[in-house]
Amino acid sequence: MTGTTENPQEWASRGVDITKPSIARAYDVVLRGKDNFAVDRAFVSEITKVIPEIYDVASYNRRILGRGVRFLAEQGIRQFLDLGSGLPTVQNTHQVARSVAPDANVVYVDNDPIVLVHGRALLEENERTAVVTSDLRDTRAVLDDPDVNRLIDFTRPVAVMMVGILHHLHDDEDPQGIVKAYLDAVPSGSHLFVTHFCASSEEARDAEKQYLALLGTGRFRTPEEITAYFDGLELLEPGVVPLPLWRPDGPVPVEDDLSIGQRLMYGGIARKP
Ligand SMILES: C[S@@+](CC[C@H](N)C(=O)[O-])C[C@H]1O[C@@H](n2cnc3c(N)ncnc32)[C@H](O)[C@@H]1O
Repeated sequence: MTGTTENPQEWASRGVDITKPSIARAYDVVLRGKDNFAVDRAFVSEITKVIPEIYDVASYNRRILGRGVRFLAEQGIRQFLDLGSGLPTVQNTHQVARSVAPDANVVYVDNDPIVLVHGRALLEENERTAVVTSDLRDTRAVLDDPDVNRLIDFTRPVAVMMVGILHHLHDDEDPQGIVKAYLDAVPSGSHLFVTHFCASSEEARDAEKQYLALLGTGRFRTPEEITAYFDGLELLEPGVVPLPLWRPDGPVPVEDDLSIGQRLMYGGIARKP
């Protein structure tokens, strides 16, 4: 098996559905990766018609992931549970965390089999990192997983990361209850890190329809709905904001001047008291 998806039939014979776009592979397209098939590129091409900036949006999301993980490591967090982690790309969670704290432990959880194949090869760089194939909606299975428990000590603070994932869960799947189940399992001083598609424009609403129709999943939420994931926690400055405005590394436009793409996703970090 090569490191790319050049040979779709080989992947199909291994049980990967190459007839429908997958979230992980479509995200890989917008990150300009090589682990995707024609059906994933066709999906992104449809989204580009509604949100021409979608490639930039993926990069805003990766950049806040880097800033957020660095911030969490600087707060003293040494354990990261990265739920819906995606395919390996540049500056993955363990690399950013270890640039601040070489002793950081990271567990990546994703339900896409391709993430496991590529992730095992690229992410398991040492005994402090693991890749687990599990559905994050099955919170008990994730929290009881042997690799999760080998690397995460649930008596010490944990960063629960749900970056770019909760908008793939529908209301009847109780995303808020799922977030709560992970937060109930971690002690005071733990943090929640969320980024989320936001219903912030007409174009965002159109993109939501395309996600639902073509990918089978998509629920873009309002800033208030996204903020509600942090209920009961201490929301850290600057709160839940469009991604480029969250603790930026350099100058950014004021909120009113942000483009549709810059407002397409919101994110924030909060601390469990
Ligand atoms: C858009 S990617 C985000 C990747 C990474 N967190 C980031 O923000 O750069 C969402 C990932 O969540 C995974 N995913 C979707 N539903 C999931 C589920 N129910 N359980 C675990 N992973 C899931 C997808 O396979 C995909 O890799």
